[in-house]
Amino acid sequence: MRTQDNASRTGCVYIVGAGPGDPDLLTIKARRLLGIADVVVFDKLVSVPILDLIPSGTTRIFAGKVARHHYMPQPDINKLLVQLARSQRCVVRLKGGDPFVFGRGGEEAVYLAEHGVRFEVVPGVTSASGCSAYAGIPLTHRDLAHGVRYVTGHTRDNEPLDLDWPRLADPATTLVVYMGRTSLARLSERLITYGLPADTPAAAVINGTRPDQQTLIATLATLPAVLSTLDGAPPTLLIIGRVVALAGTLDWFSPKGADVVCDTVQAD
Ligand SMILES: C[S@@+](CC[C@H](N)C(=O)[O-])C[C@H]1O[C@@H](n2cnc3c(N)ncnc32)[C@H](O)[C@@H]1O
Repeated sequence: MRTQDNASRTGCVYIVGAGPGDPDLLTIKARRLLGIADVVVFDKLVSVPILDLIPSGTTRIFAGKVARHHYMPQPDINKLLVQLARSQRCVVRLKGGDPFVFGRGGEEAVYLAEHGVRFEVVPGVTSASGCSAYAGIPLTHRDLAHGVRYVTGHTRDNEPLDLDWPRLADPATTLVVYMGRTSLARLSERLITYGLPADTPAAAVINGTRPDQQTLIATLATLPAVLSTLDGAPPTLLIIGRVVALAGTLDWFSPKGADVVCDTVQAD
């Protein structure tokens, strides 16, 4: 029978979602595990205030991006987790957002299962939920959107985006795009081609839920040009759909409000 706290037994890997950045969005279970972990293997999306919650004596291993854009390859991370589970009691694999939403948590869990390593998955607030809430954009709304879709804009080696365009170009559904910044121009062009109006409100939420959150509001047609002027590569979530027009009214988090860069965006 599973106990509520497998940390009292040996060699368990906890695949934990850290949420989008605000440490107050951690689950109670994630917070507790950070306090008792022997080792924490973390990704680059995990925010500094969350890393600061790890006791100073706990071993930390960075598994994200390092200098010159190299990553610890996924097969190496998988092997590392198995090795750690064989020598440590409580291994926390800490990932941004939710581990099972575009987080490769599923791949790591499969590898652990195949190698007979005990694991648990601790869900986190995915950036779609966190960023939309902190930007004042309800993902659904009875009058504006009857559904929401999460897609990734990331492709390997600049391959064409292979998405279900006719379904995605639905004005009554909100579209949330993870990792979509570099492919936004192609994405926008495809959606317009498949019938989504060019003046559909569109937002980019940058560093969502963090003190430096920035929300840019434009339209499907204009957002690519707006985003192209921004420097760096901070985490950026795209939200496309009628609900984005509510951001001006509901933005409770940003001290100076959302940055409306296209004045054709109006709430109905
Ligand atoms: C590899 S995916 C990981 C998603 C994560 N598992 C989740 O559930 O949010 C990385 C993408 O998540 C989005 N993201 C994560 N944290 C974010 C944040 N604080 N602000 C804006 N976007 C964020 C961005 O689109 C980023 O490119």
